[in-house]
Amino acid sequence: MSTKKRVLSGMQPSGKLHIGNLVGALQNWVKLQNEYDCFYFVADWHALTSQYSDPSAIKKNVNDVLINMLASGLDPEKSTIFLQSRLPEHAELHLILSMITPLGWLERVPSYKEKQFEIKDKDLNTYGFLGYPLLQSADILMYKAHYVPVGIDQMPHLELTREIGRRFNKFYEDVFPEPDGLLTKFPKVPGVDGRKMSKSYGNCVYLSDSPEDVEKKIKTMITDPQRVRLTDAGDPEKSPVFELHKIFSTKEEQNEVAEGCRTAGIGCIDCKKVLIKNLFTVLEPIWEKRKELLDKPEYVKEIVAAGTEKAKKASDETMTDVRNAIKFDSI
Ligand code: TRP
Repeated sequence: MSTKKRVLSGMQPSGKLHIGNLVGALQNWVKLQNEYDCFYFVADWHALTSQYSDPSAIKKNVNDVLINMLASGLDPEKSTIFLQSRLPEHAELHLILSMITPLGWLERVPSYKEKQFEIKDKDLNTYGFLGYPLLQSADILMYKAHYVPVGIDQMPHLELTREIGRRFNKFYEDVFPEPDGLLTKFPKVPGVDGRKMSKSYGNCVYLSDSPEDVEKKIKTMITDPQRVRLTDAGDPEKSPVFELHKIFSTKEEQNEVAEGCRTAGIGCIDCKKVLIKNLFTVLEPIWEKRKELLDKPEYVKEIVAAGTEKAKKASDETMTDVRNAIKFDSI
C-alpha cells in the first residue's frame, strides 16, 4: 500500500490542447507525479454532457488528449492514466450521490448558468448538464483523493464535492475523506490576439502545431499597439508577447527584450525570435514524443488498459464501502 497522498485530476476531451493547457495543467501534473500517488484521467462522459447531439468528435479527442498527456511527460510508471467511461463505477457512484443531492446545490454552481449563457449553439438545459459537477464529485470521491489540482474556475465544483461527501458520511457511514483543491498558480496565457488563449477564440498555439505554424503565429502576434515604427519606443507591459516571455523566457532574456522595447533598441521581430526559440525548446521534446506515440497506437491502448485496471481496483474498494454504507451489499 502506498503511503503517498493521492492526487486526482481529469481533463475533458474537448479538442486539441494548447500551450495554456500545458503550463496551466499538464506541467503541474507532471511535477506532482514525483511526489504523490497520481490518478489522471480523460473525462469523456463530461464531454458528453455538452456534445450529446453529436458525440462523433469525442473519440478522436480522447486519443489526442491521451497522446498529449503522455507527450508532455506523464509517466505511466508513476501515474495511473485512464479513461472515465471504462469505469462504470463512476456512473454508479454518480447515481447514488444524486439521491442525496439537493437540486439547489447544483443550480447554484456558477458554471451551470455561465456555460448555458456562453454556449448558445447547444441546449444545455438538460439533466446531465445540471449533474456535471456531481459527476466530477463522483470522480474525486471514488479515489478518496487528498488533493485535486485544478484552476480557480473549478473550485466551486470542489466545494460541492466536499459538501456531498460530508452529507453521505452523515447519512450513512464515514466513507469519504474531504479533498482539497491544489490551486494551480500560473500566469494568464494570452493568445496570439492578446485575449485569453482559448480554443473558441481561435488564437491558440497548439501542442500539435508544426514548428512552421508556431513561428508564423508568433511572428504575426500582436504587440504593443502604440509601437508602430521600429523607432517608436514600446511598453512591454502592453504587449502579450512579453506575457509569453514571462512564462517561457529566462529573467535575463525578459530584461533584455523589455529594455530593448522601451528604448526602441530592438524590433518586435527580434523580441519574437527569442520567444520562438524558447517555445521550441519546450515543444520539441513534446513533438518528438507525439510522433513516436502516433506511430504506436497499440502502446497508448496498453497504457490505458493498465491504468484502467489499477483504477478499477481502487474504485471497487470504494464501491464496496459505498454499497455497504447504504445497505445494498447483500441484496
Ligand atoms: N471539470 C474539469 C474541467 O473541465 C474536468 C474534470 C472532470 C475533473 N472530472 C474531474 C477535474 C475530476 C478534476 C477532478 O477541467
